[in-house]
Amino acid sequence: MEKHDINTREDIERLVNTFYEGARKDDVIGYIFNDIAKVDWPVHLPVMYDFWESLLLEGTYKGNAMQPHFRINKLVPLETVHFQRWLQLFEGTVHELFSGEIAELAITRARSISEIMNFKMNSINHPEQDKTKIPLVNPGKQKE
Ligand code: HEM
Repeated sequence: MEKHDINTREDIERLVNTFYEGARKDDVIGYIFNDIAKVDWPVHLPVMYDFWESLLLEGTYKGNAMQPHFRINKLVPLETVHFQRWLQLFEGTVHELFSGEIAELAITRARSISEIMNFKMNSINHPEQDKTKIPLVNPGKQKE
């Protein structure tokens, strides 16, 4: 079947359903959904339809996308490897099902949100590496 762009709510639902079918079975991040967060899928999936519909078409998602990840991060530190895997699965799903401008927008949006999320979790999990705390002026080599 010829691939088309993400145009409708049904397309969003297909994207989200396919992505989470893969994510929950995945060796790297699956356990976070299944065993740690114990996601209630009939509740979570419609929230994700609304979220992606609002980002890509028009929609009414008014939640806070970051918030649940802080809670999860306390149970399992969410690290760069997890975000990389999440993105790899997401991008794979988009390209498997769709082709077009909105499909590419989905990937761009996912990458930028993932980057911010990863940065925030990293600042909590590895405060010693917090790039926002690097002094602006290099104090130079300290005297012995
Ligand atoms: C390491 C990567 C990630 C993991 C393991 C993860 C896992 C989760 C879990 C367990 C939940 C809570 C589900 C529940 O309510 O039971 C959740 C919610 C959510 N996630 Fe993620 N997530 C990841 C990355 C992302 C990224 C990159 C995005 C956006 C592009 C995203 C968007 C959302 C949104 C919108 C919600 C629902 C927020 C709400 O309740 O309104 N997640 N995620």
